[in-house]
Amino acid sequence: MENKLMLMIPGPTPVPENVLLALAKHPIGHRSGEFIQIQADVTANLKWLYQTTNELLLLTASGTGTMEAGIINFFSPGDRVLVIHNGKFGERWALVSKAFGLDVVEVTAPWGQPINPADVQAALTADSAKAIKGVIITHSETSTGVINDLETINKHVKAHGALIIVDAVTSMGATNVPIDEWGLDVVCSGSQKGFMVPPGMGFVAVSAKAWEAYKTAKIPKFYLDLGKYRKDGAPFTPPVNLIFALQASLEMMKKEGLENIFARHHRHRDACRAAVKAMGLELYAPDGHGSPAITAVSTPAAEEIRKVMKKKYDIVLAGGQDHLSGQVFRIGHLGFVCDRDILSALAALEGTLAELGTGKSNGAGVAAAAQILSSK
Ligand SMILES: Cc1ncc(COP(=O)(O)O)c(C=O)c1O
Repeated sequence: MENKLMLMIPGPTPVPENVLLALAKHPIGHRSGEFIQIQADVTANLKWLYQTTNELLLLTASGTGTMEAGIINFFSPGDRVLVIHNGKFGERWALVSKAFGLDVVEVTAPWGQPINPADVQAALTADSAKAIKGVIITHSETSTGVINDLETINKHVKAHGALIIVDAVTSMGATNVPIDEWGLDVVCSGSQKGFMVPPGMGFVAVSAKAWEAYKTAKIPKFYLDLGKYRKDGAPFTPPVNLIFALQASLEMMKKEGLENIFARHHRHRDACRAAVKAMGLELYAPDGHGSPAITAVSTPAAEEIRKVMKKKYDIVLAGGQDHLSGQVFRIGHLGFVCDRDILSALAALEGTLAELGTGKSNGAGVAAAAQILSSK
C-alpha cells in the first residue's frame, strides 16, 4: 500500500511527525542569534543524552565521518592503535586507521560472537612499553546484532592508559553509555540511528584527555579538524533544518527519560529474541549479547522472507552484510519504535513464514513477544 512503509532497519530509522515538521521550517542563517541559541540548546540536550560534560561536537557527516574524525584528530602516522572487531563496522575502524597510516594491531572475535574482554586485557598487559596509543571499539555491532561489553573492556583500557575511542553509532540512545562515569574519551554516533532524525549529522564527544592528544596529533585534516568545531560550534554551514529536527527529537527524548528509553529498547530486543526462538528460527547473536538496537536472524530463507515482508506487509527488514548476505535478516528496533511496531512486525513475520512454509507459524512467536511486552 502506498505511504504505509514501516522501516525496521537499523538506520535510517523511523522519524516522528513533529520531527519531520521541524525539518519543513524555513531555514535561518547559521550566524543569527536565533540559530546560535538553538545550537546551544541542542548541544546541551545532546550532552544530556551522552551523559557527559565533555565537549560535544556536531558534524555534517554520517557515522563514518565521525569515525574518521575520531582517528585523524588524535593520532599521528605510525602510532599504534588496538582495533577490537567482530563484524563489519569494527573492521571499518581498522580500514580507516590503516588509511591514515596508523600501525594497527587487532583483537577479534568471529562475526556473531562478542569480544572476550580477557583477550583485550591480555593484549594491553603485553604492551608493557605502552606503545598502544588508542583502543578502538564498536559497542553495538550492527552487522551481527552483537553488543560488546564496553564497560569491562574500558576498565582494561583505563588500567593501561591508552585513549578509548568508541563507535556508539547504534548504542547511543538505545542503552546506557555513561561517558563521564566510564571515562570514555571519544564517542561517535549519527543522527539516523537512535536520535529519530534523518541521516546527515554526526556527533562526537571528546574528553580533556583526548584534547591533550589532539595537541600533538599530526595526521593532516581540514574539514574534520575538531579543533575548529571546538572553537566555533559551526565552522562551516551546518545542516540547519536537521538541527531543527534534532531539537524536536531531543525534546521528545527528554520527556520519555533516559531510563525509559533504554528499558524500551531492551524490552524490544527481548521480545524479538523470544519470538524468533518460538518461530523456530536461529538467533545470530548468543543470549546475553544481543544488541538492544537490532536482532539478526540466521536462515537460508533470509532474502525470501525480506521480499515477502516488503511486498505483502510493507515492512522493510535489513539483509545480511558481506559474507552474511542471503544468510541472515536483521530486524531494526532502534529509535522511534513502539511495542505495537514490534508486535506488527513479528505477526507479519509469522505470516511470511506460513506463506513460505518455513519455521513455525502457529502464533507462538507473537505470543512470546506479547508476554514479554506485557510483563515489562
Ligand atoms: C555500528 C555502526 N558504525 C558505523 C556505521 C556507519 O555509519 P554511516 O553509514 O552513517 O556512515 C554504522 C551504520 O550503520 C553502524 O551501524
